[in-house]
Amino acid sequence: MAEQLRVGIIGGKRGGGHVAAIGNSRDRLVLAGVYDPVPAISADFVAHYPGTVEYRSFEEAVEKCDILVLASPQQYHAPQADYALRAGVHVLSEVPAAVSMEQVSLLLAAARQSKAKYMIAENYCYTRENLVIAEMARQKVFGDMYFGESEYLHEMKSWHHNPATGERTWRYYWQVGKNGITYPTHSLGPLLQWMDDRITAISCIGSGRWTKPEYEMEDTVTLSARTRKGALLRMRLDLVSNRPEVWNYYSLQGTKGAYESGRLFGDKPRLYLEGVSKHDTWQSFEDYAQEFLPARYATPPQGAGHWGSDAWPLLDFLDAIDRDVAPPLDIYKALEMTLPGIVSEESIARNGAWLAVSDPHTMTAGIGLNPGREAPLA
Ligand SMILES: NC(=O)c1ccc[n+]([C@@H]2O[C@H](COP(=O)([O-])OP(=O)(O)OC[C@H]3O[C@@H](n4cnc5c(N)ncnc54)[C@H](O)[C@@H]3O)[C@@H](O)[C@H]2O)c1
Repeated sequence: MAEQLRVGIIGGKRGGGHVAAIGNSRDRLVLAGVYDPVPAISADFVAHYPGTVEYRSFEEAVEKCDILVLASPQQYHAPQADYALRAGVHVLSEVPAAVSMEQVSLLLAAARQSKAKYMIAENYCYTRENLVIAEMARQKVFGDMYFGESEYLHEMKSWHHNPATGERTWRYYWQVGKNGITYPTHSLGPLLQWMDDRITAISCIGSGRWTKPEYEMEDTVTLSARTRKGALLRMRLDLVSNRPEVWNYYSLQGTKGAYESGRLFGDKPRLYLEGVSKHDTWQSFEDYAQEFLPARYATPPQGAGHWGSDAWPLLDFLDAIDRDVAPPLDIYKALEMTLPGIVSEESIARNGAWLAVSDPHTMTAGIGLNPGREAPLA
């Protein structure tokens, strides 16, 4: 039996969401410990998962682990990934991958130069519905896909101040303290995965500031995007407005059919396939779910949150490490779903100007001063 890889959790709150995966792979993974700068949170984590240890610093966790799950606030993901990758430690990063172009360069360079692997833990690519649609899309059941839509509407005003101290939290600065699509990946990740495509240009506009005028972010922000294959995407993000949540609305249109997820909790997803479904009539998603859900994802590990999706990123990451192949949501996929959000901040500031989104494959980060004359990138 291969030796176990030691998993360290960075950030003891969301970090717990990844633990369900470990229960399913005890022969390969061991939950080693946690680093969180708030001692009470590390202590709670260790009490909840007996046998784990508290690391006194991030650097100690890097030293003592083989895989780190970065579930720290989003502005730390890229710097922490950079440090860990350069130390040869595998990184599974929470979303988004980075919060600025500088961080994108740092992260891309580190991932290219490291022998360790990097994956983004975009769990919304792993919900049962989204896995089924991904497989149908892969098999071209919807034909050529030319329109996709998604929404993440999550009223989070109470998350912006610490209730005990009144201090502003990281979300105040990094999610609503900037204007634009500051939380893009749950919405864009699945659409890009289904279409096997990347965004080349975006335009971002907002509704204005109505509910909480002190926030830099406008209440509702929308992104229009053009993809490399010529498709159109539309996304809406709202972290402010007074309303119940819509976290995972998606729709997809192709030449041979369409998909509409449920929009409100409890709604049933539907699809239509030209020449198969009755004309002008939606069919139940469940008519296709069993046939197209890949067997690997049939039964989510016990306790996996977010509709069972939370455990799959770490399990797929482990599989990629074991087979020494690129993870399914590797550094390039991670940046393809992250970059449009970063570019959106300039677009919204320029009144919706259409701006190009770079292709992370051709960005020069990490290639060095003398490309081609240096040690090969890992
Ligand atoms: N994929 C998902 O469905 C999902 C869900 C929730 C959160 N997230 C992401 O996970 C991350 C954490 O979110 P959360 O809800 O746990 O936030 P949170 O504010 O509830 O908790 C953040 C934790 O990180 C700790 N922390 C602060 N600085 C740190 C550092 N430098 N290193 C390590 N830990 C640090 C804090 O003490 C706190 O315990 C965010 O990036 C968020 O976007 C993803």
